[in-house]
Amino acid sequence: MSENAVSTPPRYDRVTIAFHWLTALLVTALVGTSFAWKYTPRDWGLKSLESLHISLGIILAAVLVGRLLWRAIAGRKLAAAGSTATALLSRLVHWALYGLLALQVALGFGLRWLQGEAFRFFQLFSIPSPLSPDRALALQVQELHELAAWALIIVAGGHAVAALVHRYWLKDDVLQRMLPARG
Ligand code: HEM
Ligand code: HEM
Repeated sequence: MSENAVSTPPRYDRVTIAFHWLTALLVTALVGTSFAWKYTPRDWGLKSLESLHISLGIILAAVLVGRLLWRAIAGRKLAAAGSTATALLSRLVHWALYGLLALQVALGFGLRWLQGEAFRFFQLFSIPSPLSPDRALALQVQELHELAAWALIIVAGGHAVAALVHRYWLKDDVLQRMLPARG
């Protein structure tokens, strides 16, 4: 589908909007759960958040696959706003975000498999591991997973600030088109 042909009305379709905000919510919860158990004293007992983190991570993996499939098959695509340079930058940032999300999911799954510990979705089912446990490699993957988390926080943070700049400084409709229509 051509991007220009679908640029009116200037709003993404409801499914794309729902996927976008669900992704943002899940990423916030994943950062929140992991930082809560990693950076608070052990005797706070927040390690139990780890299993919530893993279950939310599995949901993020499904949401990412669904989102990319929807985008490829039926999602409305709008032309990037601004000059050629800003439009290119915004595309780069969007693809960097998709890339970081996919990387983070791959590292998260790889990490759990290499740890050789239970990989449960809440108390509903377990995902069997195709890898043999390897504690040394797991530690390296864990470091990469943390590094990718910081990269995602920085890029997504910059992306959110850019959306607010569009709304309150440039006063254009870029943020509104990712918000559900009223009424
Ligand atoms: C946006 C997505 C995600 C972010 C920002 C994120 C962030 C983090 C962070 C900061 C840690 C702590 C790393 C450390 O202790 O050094 C962590 C640990 C972990 N994450 Fe994620 N994560 C994400 C997605 C996932 C996914 C999709 C999975 C897999 C389902 C996953 C599984 C794990 C596991 C198994 C650990 C290690 C738990 C342990 O300490 O044993 N994460 N994550
Ligand atoms: C972890 C958080 C977030 C992630 C991973 C994320 C990811 C993305 C991605 C991948 C796109 C490209 C959509 C596409 O064309 O396929 C996008 C678009 C967009 N996002 Fe986010 N986003 C996040 C948070 C936010 C926040 C907090 C805001 C607002 C303050 C926001 C506002 C927007 C807007 C307005 C667009 C459409 C931009 C345009 O049409 O040029 N996002 N987001």
